[in-house]
Amino acid sequence: KKDVIFDTDPGVDDAMALLFLARAPQVHLRGITTGHGNGDIENTTRNALYLKDRFQLEAGVYRGTAGPLKGEPEAPPAFIHGENALGDIAIPAELNSRIGAQSAHQFIIDSVRQHPHQISIVAVGRLTNLALALREAPDIAPLIKEVVIMGGAFGYHGHTGNVTPLAEANIHGDPLAAEEVLGAACPITVVGLDVTYKTIMSGRYLDRLAETAGEAGRFIREISRGYERFHQTVGLPDGFYVNDSCAVAYLLDPSLFTTVSGPVRVVTEGFAEGHTICSREGAWGSRPSQRVCVDIRADAFLELYESVLVGKPAGQ
Ligand code: BDR
Ligand code: CA
Repeated sequence: KKDVIFDTDPGVDDAMALLFLARAPQVHLRGITTGHGNGDIENTTRNALYLKDRFQLEAGVYRGTAGPLKGEPEAPPAFIHGENALGDIAIPAELNSRIGAQSAHQFIIDSVRQHPHQISIVAVGRLTNLALALREAPDIAPLIKEVVIMGGAFGYHGHTGNVTPLAEANIHGDPLAAEEVLGAACPITVVGLDVTYKTIMSGRYLDRLAETAGEAGRFIREISRGYERFHQTVGLPDGFYVNDSCAVAYLLDPSLFTTVSGPVRVVTEGFAEGHTICSREGAWGSRPSQRVCVDIRADAFLELYESVLVGKPAGQ
């Protein structure tokens, strides 16, 4: 099985990605590390604990840092994910699950050192935890099996940003962390808006999921109402773009994607702060090449997502 750490800021689409990952038969979910982003760190950590309780996830939850490597955290986008970052569904004040003793980045360091070349990391929030882990323990870089990041926008299909004209939210929320992580000598795949904007769950798809995928399906329908409404305001009349689950899909089935490779850099200041650029080999000295997704077979993705949530192998 793939031994996976999920680094996340739940978040409506984070919760959808977590269920997808946790239910994939080929995955052992080792831990959930939380970050600032869709809510503040208290909020996203509480949401992770809630998801662990509600869906009986075995993985521990490890709290991450409250803000980016440099500067203050951005205000959470309540207009997208709701005030509680889970579509404003009712969440009990008392939760059974407890936060793990280690910090998020320490958990990443310890897991990788204890299981060299075994751990995959799917990172779907700001990259602060991963950057801290690599700063404190650079030795872990070659020991990480793979990292799949939801973040960035490279302009392959005209999309270069969602929070600014030139930046995607996960990268913009901590550009320095992204610049450091993408320079690490471990295999990284970047799943950006180039492919996530090609991947749309329609209202009909979500209604069907609510019928076929049991409690998880009903839960997804419930948390995503406001998320769907937000997408109407940005020109998508039906449904929403699937961001974080695309990163999980890459981990489960990379054949769904078309990729290019080259060194990736992130603009860390100025009006283009958070902009991601993938160049040719050698463009920036010895900066390692990473993989960037430029296309996705979106229909096959939607089939895979549904089949995992429903608990049946795709195509049956
Ligand atoms: C990313 O930003 C967050 O709002 C989403 O959860 C996703 O990870 C999309 O830009
Ligand atoms: Ca996210």
